[in-house]
Amino acid sequence: MTNQDTAVWVEKDKKQLHPVYHPKTHINPLVIERGEGVWLYTTDGQKILDGMAGLWNVNIGYGNEELARAAYDQMKALAFTSNFAGMTNLPSIKLADKLAGFAYEGLNTTFFTSGGSEANDSAFKTARYYWKRKGKPGKYKVIARKGAYHGVTLAATFATGLEKYQTMFGPAIDGFVHIPAPNRYRFEGDRRPGESVGQAAARALEEAILHEGPETIAAFIAEPVMSVGGLIVPPDDYFPLIRAICDKYEVLLISDEVITGFGRTGEWFALKHWNIKPDILSFAKAITSGYAQLGGIQISDEIRETMESAAESEAYMHGYTYSGHAMACAVGIKNLELMEKENYPARAKELGKRLLDGLKTLLEFSFVGDVRGLGLLCGLEIVSSKETKAADPALTMKIFKAAQERGLRTRPLGNVLAFSPPLSITEEEVDEIVKRLGAAMDSIGGN
Ligand SMILES: Cc1ncc(COP(=O)(O)O)c(C=O)c1O
Repeated sequence: MTNQDTAVWVEKDKKQLHPVYHPKTHINPLVIERGEGVWLYTTDGQKILDGMAGLWNVNIGYGNEELARAAYDQMKALAFTSNFAGMTNLPSIKLADKLAGFAYEGLNTTFFTSGGSEANDSAFKTARYYWKRKGKPGKYKVIARKGAYHGVTLAATFATGLEKYQTMFGPAIDGFVHIPAPNRYRFEGDRRPGESVGQAAARALEEAILHEGPETIAAFIAEPVMSVGGLIVPPDDYFPLIRAICDKYEVLLISDEVITGFGRTGEWFALKHWNIKPDILSFAKAITSGYAQLGGIQISDEIRETMESAAESEAYMHGYTYSGHAMACAVGIKNLELMEKENYPARAKELGKRLLDGLKTLLEFSFVGDVRGLGLLCGLEIVSSKETKAADPALTMKIFKAAQERGLRTRPLGNVLAFSPPLSITEEEVDEIVKRLGAAMDSIGGN
């Protein structure tokens, strides 16, 4: 395609309202035509190393023939049928069967959605439903963390702890409370002498529950590794303490693994790193490696059993047209099969270490304040001074653009640059990320 053709398409693209849009952020969009492995190709001839696997989801890499075939075969046989109670289809049965106990022991029931926001909405509604069935209808509030990202349905928007996603959509809906995240680099909560960041951040949960009243709290939701909020890897003592507090006050623990699920952090699911399990799990994205729109929640056997004894007037009146979409589920089954065959979590662990070690060499730049990650989920914090740790989003944006000019796609999240490449990435390609980012930083100076 010529540059002129691309300009025509970009002009026509104005008919589309893009997600997360402001006119200034969509002046010269990249028009992506095809992808292969970790590489994206634009209509004007650029070849870009996608250090973000799309939006943290294309774990298997681009251009996978077998997933395309799975979609084709299923669409031909049956693309879609209603999955509302009274009807079902084979791919959704097989995928739910495969997922039973796959992420965490005791989470054997799956409810399908089309993506992560719907998954979290479903998690909140299911938590409310559960407590009503248990005779505790006053338990409806959800505690989340500042900096959390849980999606963009109205409920997920206000579960999210990032103001910029909320400012233009208020007033806030009732029932969401936010506490500080366990950020080791810049903890914003109250930390007592001798207390670890993990202990202080967990204490914030207990205090919030007591402040609101345990009889009002339905659930606590957390991303095991906070992603959009700046790549926060929690200290090891945090989640075991969180689990104990949730148990103590009868609060359901919702693990939002929309990004961390399906191998990204080096385990199939991330709470495994700390040997605990949630009551509800939200997943999406990499279940199909982005080849089809699919997400869902898994619920504990306890929650499932509570639903089974409901009167008909208490039916679970919740479901999406595309819940259990036959084609999407068929793609999910094939994707899981391929990821298991290649042991993708082990790859993420090994190559994640290589990426993190490589990124740590960039700490030599005066503006790289911190480098952190778990598996193939890493972030660099850009600061104007290592001493004051003052966040520098403007410089972060400059580095992002300089990297893009060098054919490397990362994502600026405030003052953090994120990396979440396909798990199919090779060692050489990992090194290429570090090399291109280093060159981008060199072009800016600051040693
Ligand atoms: C942790 C987390 N939860 C939920 C979502 C929302 O998922 P979706 O965009 O598929 O609705 C995202 C999306 O990035 C996410 O990162």
